[in-house]
Amino acid sequence: MISGHGTIETAVRATKLGAYDFLEKPLSIDRTLSLIKHAIDSKSLRRENRDLRRQLQSKSVIAGESVPMKALRQQIAIMAPTNGRVLIYGESGTGKELVAHAIHAQSLRKEEMFVEVNCAAIPEDLIESELFGHQQGSFPGATSNKEGQFQRATGGTLFLDEVGDMSLKTQSKVLRTLDEQRFTPVGGSDPITVDVRVIASTNKDLEEEISKGNFREDLFYRLNVIPFFVPPLRERKEDIPLLARYFVKEFAAAYGRRSREITDDAIQTLSRYSWPGNVRELRNVIERIVIMNPTTTKFERKHLPPLVYRDGSRRAAGTEFSTLHQARDAYERDYILKKLDENHGNVSRTAEMLGLERSHLYRKMKTLGIAAKE
Ligand SMILES: Nc1ncnc2c1ncn2[C@@H]1O[C@H](COP(=O)(O)OP(=O)(O)OP(=O)(O)O)[C@@H](O)[C@H]1O
Ligand SMILES: [Mg+2]
Repeated sequence: MISGHGTIETAVRATKLGAYDFLEKPLSIDRTLSLIKHAIDSKSLRRENRDLRRQLQSKSVIAGESVPMKALRQQIAIMAPTNGRVLIYGESGTGKELVAHAIHAQSLRKEEMFVEVNCAAIPEDLIESELFGHQQGSFPGATSNKEGQFQRATGGTLFLDEVGDMSLKTQSKVLRTLDEQRFTPVGGSDPITVDVRVIASTNKDLEEEISKGNFREDLFYRLNVIPFFVPPLRERKEDIPLLARYFVKEFAAAYGRRSREITDDAIQTLSRYSWPGNVRELRNVIERIVIMNPTTTKFERKHLPPLVYRDGSRRAAGTEFSTLHQARDAYERDYILKKLDENHGNVSRTAEMLGLERSHLYRKMKTLGIAAKE
């Protein structure tokens, strides 16, 4: 809006009616140009934001028609609009993160940020600064001020993934933050107020961790207001055909290929497998066959990786792999499973034995579809 008789009131009214800004005559060309540029930028940012949010929402579709999955969707619809804290239980790859996304997408906070912190993948000495931010110079490596994820999530949802892997020290700081609705960044002195809905997930039995002294009981009760259980895929095998077809469609579209199908025979084979890595493993298998067979339109049993129709992780080093990549994955998977077994599933100890960072092994397990069960 441009006017030569501008008053504060007209300016306010113009903005209320939708004007981006108000300019008074005589016009300054520089100011006008920069204002127009800002208006254009702001419009394209808004559009981009809306598109991204839409994409995110489509990522929170929970497929599955089994009884437990239907119940889960119902439960989400009921409690998403409340501000209640949710603790999501489930083995690795069952869809805990997806459930957290779905809760946020159906909540009153859906226009605000969904921020995820994976407590297992972040080295222990960095997690506090990750969550709460830090002041420049508060520890070696803190070269500038950093905003923590609690603050980024203000108004929205903070997802504490693998909360069972958080150290006791960080647990007490999180507890204090939830109680007082504020916290102080590492090395800082002024508390920051937060309004955050916390959703946590774990693949551990937290009550057992409490009895072992690894998890604070008071924090557990704060987080566990509404417990959700995502069952392992082997306990809802009737979802396998639907999920397999869902992923075939997803990856066919993602890799820009013509529409593709999977035969009933292949589906039956998939349904017999035990899926220790749950839905993530199934999704990885489907992605792999889509990539590896670019010209195939109908996937059959023979396209599936040997692992799936052999069901079991033991196999002779052999000729069944068509690529080095497949053979290496299979070998690594067997090897890591064996070492995990020797350490009774303890990831930290296994990582030490293999000479890897815990977070590195953890990520590796994830890509190979190995469930962490400590
Ligand atoms: N019911 C479902 N419908 C569609 N996709 C699903 C479903 N369940 C899981 N997935 C997909 O499987 C993958 C693994 O799910 P997700 O990351 O939510 O598992 P998770 O339980 O958080 O695993 P982890 O414990 O290893 O972090 C994701 O790509 C997710 O989109
Ligand atoms: Mg997860």
